[in-house]
Amino acid sequence: MPFEIIIGTQWGDEGKGRVVDLLSEEAVVVARYNGGDNAGHTVTVGGQTFKLHLLPSGMIHSQTIGVIGNGLVVNPAVLLKEIDMLRQNGLTVDPQRLGISHAAHLLTPAHQALDRAQEAARGGAQIGTTGRGIGPAYTDKVARRGLRMEDMLDVPRFRHKLTAHLEETNRWLTQMYSAEPLAVQAIVEEFSGYAEVLAPYIRDVGALIMEVLQKGGRVLAEGAQGTLLDLDHGTYPFVTSSTPTAPGALTGLGLGVLPVDRVVGVTKAFQTRVGSGPFPTEVFGEMAERLRGTGANPWDEFGTTTGRPRRVGWLDGVLLRYAMRLNGVSELAVTKLDILSGLPDIKICTAYRSENGVHETLPLGPADLSPFEAVYEELPGWQEDVRGARRWEDLPRLAQEYIRRIEAISGVPVRYISVGPERSQVIVR
Ligand code: GDP
Ligand code: IMO
Ligand code: MG
Repeated sequence: MPFEIIIGTQWGDEGKGRVVDLLSEEAVVVARYNGGDNAGHTVTVGGQTFKLHLLPSGMIHSQTIGVIGNGLVVNPAVLLKEIDMLRQNGLTVDPQRLGISHAAHLLTPAHQALDRAQEAARGGAQIGTTGRGIGPAYTDKVARRGLRMEDMLDVPRFRHKLTAHLEETNRWLTQMYSAEPLAVQAIVEEFSGYAEVLAPYIRDVGALIMEVLQKGGRVLAEGAQGTLLDLDHGTYPFVTSSTPTAPGALTGLGLGVLPVDRVVGVTKAFQTRVGSGPFPTEVFGEMAERLRGTGANPWDEFGTTTGRPRRVGWLDGVLLRYAMRLNGVSELAVTKLDILSGLPDIKICTAYRSENGVHETLPLGPADLSPFEAVYEELPGWQEDVRGARRWEDLPRLAQEYIRRIEAISGVPVRYISVGPERSQVIVR
């Protein structure tokens, strides 16, 4: 079945939006399966830049149908703003073109307030969340007291449930965190309005996807965040609260174990992280400024969602191999190769060293990376500008060698090489 999954292999912001846009040209359905508006996916077409937080990036292609799966937590205010943004750009967004799972959870101002209060209470042990309410929304889901999209179909009952949710949160906010209470009535009115607008979009998206697949239509599942932010398999507790890894696409869209055509792993040519947590290949000082950029270019390493400067470092081959295994990656898309042009040499981490010796794989997953020090291989850099390259042959020999090293270290072929943010700036092998 033509079902494809696109995932991030690092700590998010690998350029998934850019790759999903590239691969959506022939898709019938493009679907988000995890996370919420903590995601910020950038697509640049013809000099125009779209930043998407909840809608699938593939919706920029007008022939696609967008799906928001049950695995998401949805802030309706952000969603409606984004729908508006697409409409202002001449794209149709109506219930024929967008389906929202009945079982997706609602993210409310209560979750945002709790996220802020809990981060403040963590003091020096902050996770560095996006402050979008993601953790508390998933907490309610797991505690079986969350509000789901389908609750909005019965407005009087919905108002009742929402009131109870806000009143309970107010007790937590005031008694536990000494924070300001929320204005319950105003939020209930606001959300009753959202319920009316969003009701026509709510459906069983798993059934919709199966119908498309059975007719031979291509379905593309777009991961948000990245492998190392996975709740179970990431750098716990410095993770997000959902399942960004590829298996999450099945549970997060309401699908069974069906044949997956391919899993495309998106990896930056170097490594970045926003928020706290371990980062063995992190660099500081001048080299960090060089990799991050100053913020003058739209692609410089500052968060799409929060604007925070991203921490930067060299590509970590140990964590990359781990991501290949966890996701079953069949091919890689390497992004931002252009950023490495002009460096005298480029480091790539091939193993970790600890007092027990050298490790090519992680003994126990990445939650505790403190015993390890990165072992680097140094490759000579290329000086040519690669932004105009469109074929493998156009790349300087040393850039080709860097890509070949990534293939050898990951054990997975690099099928796509992105040399700029624009849709056309790519090499397909
Ligand atoms: P995502 O969250 O994985 O979709 O990634 P983001 O959109 O948050 O961050 C990736 C940033 O890099 C965006 O600004 C993209 O426009 C930009 N980008 C993607 N691929 C390339 C590339 O090959 N070269 C350059 N210079 N920028 C790129
Ligand atoms: P995309 O989809 C990068 C990070 C936050 C924080 C941690 C937990 O654009 O790649 P959360 O708000 O989810 O509770 O924060 O996860 N984080 C991301 N980092 N890209 C993202 O999304 C992220 N979404 C969450 O910075 O460290
Ligand atoms: Mg992003």
